[in-house]
Amino acid sequence: MCAAFSPQAQAASEMDLPEVEDNAEFLEQLMAVTSRSLPQLELQDQYTIIKELGSGTYGNVLLAEHRERGTALALKLMPKERTERRAFLREYCIALCLSAHAGFLNTLPIAFESPTHFAFAQELAPAGDLCAIVQDGGLPEAQVKRCAAQLAEALDFMHGKALVHRDIKLDNVLLFDRECRRVKLGDFGLTRLEGTPVCAMSGTLPYAPPELCLLEAPETLELDTSLDVWAFAVLLFCLCTGCFPWDVAASADLRFEEFGAWQNSTVGGQTPAPWRVFSAAAQEMFRRLLALDPNRRSPAIEAHKYLSVAWLVSGRGEQDRDTGLGSQGHGQEQLQSGPGAVCDKASPTKSSGLAGSLEGAQAGTGRLQSKLGKEVGGGEVGAEGVEGGTRRSRGGGEPVLPTVASISCHTSVSTAPIPISSC
Ligand SMILES: Nc1ncnc2c1ncn2[C@@H]1O[C@H](COP(=O)(O)OP(=O)(O)O)[C@@H](O)[C@H]1O
Ligand SMILES: [Mg+2]
Repeated sequence: MCAAFSPQAQAASEMDLPEVEDNAEFLEQLMAVTSRSLPQLELQDQYTIIKELGSGTYGNVLLAEHRERGTALALKLMPKERTERRAFLREYCIALCLSAHAGFLNTLPIAFESPTHFAFAQELAPAGDLCAIVQDGGLPEAQVKRCAAQLAEALDFMHGKALVHRDIKLDNVLLFDRECRRVKLGDFGLTRLEGTPVCAMSGTLPYAPPELCLLEAPETLELDTSLDVWAFAVLLFCLCTGCFPWDVAASADLRFEEFGAWQNSTVGGQTPAPWRVFSAAAQEMFRRLLALDPNRRSPAIEAHKYLSVAWLVSGRGEQDRDTGLGSQGHGQEQLQSGPGAVCDKASPTKSSGLAGSLEGAQAGTGRLQSKLGKEVGGGEVGAEGVEGGTRRSRGGGEPVLPTVASISCHTSVSTAPIPISSC
């Protein structure tokens, strides 16, 4: 038997999370059992490392082959110097529990620690992640819808278990084929139970909802599944256009400000330029998934209701598919107002870092007023992030949308992991 194989983990992977109210206790028990039975071994003794599949904020994922059995798998390695044992156990155990659903990476009952790393094994996603295929521009509508359908189901499942993913983004969606016929959600490093208090700004900035962007340290927010719904909608926008709708969901970001005004408007409000490439039905879907008030945000599964209607306005052909949202084919709105016209494809600027963006936001507007009518604070300054600030305009003119390519896909702007004590 493989030395890293854990019968307890095998048993756990075959059981489903219990009723929502017992989830916290169940996870604690599973973590405790896993911790007691975690084997110690040297990675190289057991596995041949073939290549690195990817790396993120918290770990490296390697394509490895078991020396005796020859099976290929993805090994997620987390350096001990940066990873609390408890954080590793939680991620692994949540991943195991979610393996029951086809919308999540299948986590194998293989986990171990070496002198320097914690590690666990998952099935290999042979086509990589969504980041790679979106960087060159938007995907064909049918492909986007396949992703939407599968991810909505995955979110529906985990939200039904009171789990909030907290890191829905392109690089955490793994592909089994490049046409997205089978996609799965991975990376449960930030996943917590609903109701857990979280600090200001954790997660990746363009995907963060306004209620999180406007949170002011030391305030905390009780985690809610609506946070994932917002990120899911931003991800869908990215898939359709190759751009993010904004750098940061705060009012100093002109694109977000325009979107917020549209959301608050009654019938007849002017649709902001980036959203005019979408049909009326798709606009309605986005407005529901991106409700400014988290209490009014639709569940992710709402996207299923819109799968049978067209999302993009007619005229978007293969040329767009090849070039992203270029200047052709968006009907009357092209050049002036389609995302192609505002998508900042040439800019090498990376995503706004948290500190830069929120400093910009606060400098621009002072204390920010939430659209919910209550005043909420700014984000936590000093979080680790990437260069740049909120871009309000290009050359003093029309503001630009950050392209997916301009955002370092594998860079998260999360703060230090939420202290264990808060979980
Ligand atoms: N099972 C897998 N198969 C193929 N590639 C993977 C797999 N798991 C992760 N990756 C790649 O590794 C990257 C980092 O993995 P992830 O679990 O998201 O780590 P982190 O917590 O550090 O973000 C992913 O974005 C993806 O590109
Ligand atoms: Mg990741």
